[in-house]
Amino acid sequence: MDGLAGTALIPRREPVAMPRAIPVARPWLPDAGALLPYLRRIDAARIYANWGPLNAELERRLAERLGAAVVTVSTATDGLACALRAVLEDRPAAQRRGLCLMPSWTFVATAHAAVAAGLTPCFLDVDEACWTLTPDRVRAALRGGLARRTELPVSAIVTVAPFGLPLDPAPWDELAAGTGIPVVIDAAAAFDGLRVGMAPAVVSMHATKTVCAGEGGFVATRDADLARRVKRTANFGFFGARIAEVAGLNAKLSEYHAAVGLASLDQWPTRRGDYMAAGIALRAGLEPLGCGFLPGFGEAWVSSSCVLRLPPGRRAAEVAVALGLDGVGTRAWWGAGCHASPAFAPCPVAEELRTTARLAETTLGLPFFPDLQAPDVARIVTAMDSALGGPKRRRRPAA
Ligand SMILES: Cc1ncc(COP(=O)(O)O)c(C=O)c1O
Repeated sequence: MDGLAGTALIPRREPVAMPRAIPVARPWLPDAGALLPYLRRIDAARIYANWGPLNAELERRLAERLGAAVVTVSTATDGLACALRAVLEDRPAAQRRGLCLMPSWTFVATAHAAVAAGLTPCFLDVDEACWTLTPDRVRAALRGGLARRTELPVSAIVTVAPFGLPLDPAPWDELAAGTGIPVVIDAAAAFDGLRVGMAPAVVSMHATKTVCAGEGGFVATRDADLARRVKRTANFGFFGARIAEVAGLNAKLSEYHAAVGLASLDQWPTRRGDYMAAGIALRAGLEPLGCGFLPGFGEAWVSSSCVLRLPPGRRAAEVAVALGLDGVGTRAWWGAGCHASPAFAPCPVAEELRTTARLAETTLGLPFFPDLQAPDVARIVTAMDSALGGPKRRRRPAA
């Protein structure tokens, strides 16, 4: 074919340089140089697992930051399962096998964790402005006779910090105290701005999160005895002696992962500044187009994903296709909500999930990472403007 180029049949065209696509996420863990001092400590100690000295240091540093007791865990999913088991540990058997109220608007890990803890997820709708479950919504569901309809007691509640939005733990602690139903907070993406009360908050340190260990997470609570119980559950039910006091898992974080977590924590002040700058730049470009952000995103707090609400009348699926054609990656991080996954189809739904359905149709995850450059932001904004049919809409090239 090359031999024909430039003939009368096939005019020669200059190759068009396509700009690289902007991925929706670009994890950036500490490099080998940052890890080395920690890895040398592992070599010297020859302790590789079982919550060794690096885990102890990571727990201590996180505890100081949060003013709470901290237990590192292998993943946030495991941490949620351990926290749920631990909060229910002293309840009668039937009470440990009931419903776990949670928003459908979450990642499937929340529901998987409830199942792993022996519970049945029961889905609720979320608040329109903050995309979260609210204590009032839970109270209304409890008054609605859920237990009678499902023939299962309500055992636990999991509230979720959507895409890192910081949650105030106080109303959840009040709800738990008032109803006697324990609450666990899925704060998987909410490292920044995390406030900890009595209810255990579970944070992910997955590679896609802001402070990361590769795979990993931690559980934080102001209830020191509960932290001890989470630790026991995450370690085969052992605490001190090699006797399984309660049913448990192996959900411990290895020393290698703790090394990455420590190096990541060292870098967090710089990385946070980069994330915030990227968040502010995206807001500045996209808000004038009518896109909405979670309250405080990029201003008061930041996480590793940027999920925005499209202007009224715009559907995420269509905008995603248009952005994709312009080389801008997107992700519907939580799909249509948990209840839409076949794995959870048999689970009860406490109420109509109208807001969940609206969020699934109108929100979209955009590219977001700490080294998102100004030209990338400009491309995202231009592509969004074009996808929304704005005034700067590019003309189709003449046929
Ligand atoms: C809301 C939520 N819960 C739980 C998890 C699970 O975290 P991990 O991957 O550490 O198990 C995630 C992961 O992104 C999440 O977004």
